[in-house]
Amino acid sequence: MLDESFLAATAELYYPGMGTENVAPLLYSLVRMLKPRSCLEVGLGYTTPFLARALCDNDREGACDRALLAAETLTPAQRERVATLARGHFEGAAPRPTRLCTVDNFALGDFSDHQVLRVLTATGTAHKVELVRADFAAALEGIAGDWLPLDLVWFDCGGLPDAIRFLNACWPRVAQQHGTVLLHYTHFRYVHRAPGGERETMLIDPLVSELKKRQALPGARFEVMSLLEPNKVHQSSVTMLRKLPPASCARRAGLQDEARDLFGLEVPPLAPLAPFAPFA
Ligand SMILES: C[S@@+](CC[C@H](N)C(=O)[O-])C[C@H]1O[C@@H](n2cnc3c(N)ncnc32)[C@H](O)[C@@H]1O
Repeated sequence: MLDESFLAATAELYYPGMGTENVAPLLYSLVRMLKPRSCLEVGLGYTTPFLARALCDNDREGACDRALLAAETLTPAQRERVATLARGHFEGAAPRPTRLCTVDNFALGDFSDHQVLRVLTATGTAHKVELVRADFAAALEGIAGDWLPLDLVWFDCGGLPDAIRFLNACWPRVAQQHGTVLLHYTHFRYVHRAPGGERETMLIDPLVSELKKRQALPGARFEVMSLLEPNKVHQSSVTMLRKLPPASCARRAGLQDEARDLFGLEVPPLAPLAPFAPFA
C-alpha cells in the first residue's frame, strides 16, 4: 500500500525535474493491476520503490487469494471475492518469481545505488530488486533464463535515439501475452505561429508517430496509447505499448453480428467516431 510511511520514506528520491511524481503511483497501479512477474526499469530513482512495493503487494494479495480458493468455509464477502477470481491464474506449476531488474549507468549522477538501496530497505522492498549498474544495451544482453519474457518495462532515460535503440533491443524480450512497455517523455513542446500570436502545443515525438502508423497496419500485434499531464511542458507524457495475443486483436466480423452471435443481443450501430466532436 502507498501509505504515509511509504511516501515519507521515498520522498528523498523525488526530484521535481525528473517529473515522475504522478508516474510513480501510476506504475504502482499498473503493476497491481497487470500482475507482471518480470519487470525491468531503465533509469532508477523515485519510481523504483513504487514498482517494488507493487510487486510485494501483489505477492501478499496472491497468497490471500490462494488461501481463499482452498478454504472450505467463507464469509459472504470472501465468497464474492472468490467469484471474481480466475482459477486458472492460480493453478499449475509454480509461477516465475515476481521481481524487478533496475538498470542505471549513473551517467546523470543524481542518485547513487546506495541511496536507492537504503530507501528500498527502509520500505521493506529491497528483496524484490536486482540493481544493475550498466548501460541498458549491455544489461538487456544479460537478461536471460527465467527473467524472460519481460512482462512490464519502464524506460526513463536518454532521448529519442536511446528510446529507439532500447525498443529495438527490448521488444523481442517482451511477453507476447500482454507484455507492456512504458516510455517516458514522448511528447515535446512545439511553438507555432497562429492568428493572434504564438501558440504552443504538445506534439508526439517521431517515435510515437511511427508506432501509431504501425499500429494501424493490418496484422499489427500491439496497441499504443499515451497519457499527458496538461499542467506540464517537460516530463509530462507517458506512452504505453502493449503486445496483443490473438484473442485481443480486432476481428473481421461487424459489431452487430458479433453481439448477436456471441451474446444473443440486438445492439444499435456505433456512430462514426468523428474527429471533431461539437463539444470537444
Ligand atoms: C530521468 S532519470 C530516471 C528518473 C527516475 N525514474 C525517477 O523516477 O526519478 C534517468 C536515469 O537514467 C540513467 N541513464 C542515462 N543513460 C543511461 C543508459 N544509456 N543506460 C542506463 N542508464 C542510463 C541516468 O544515470 C539517470 O539516473
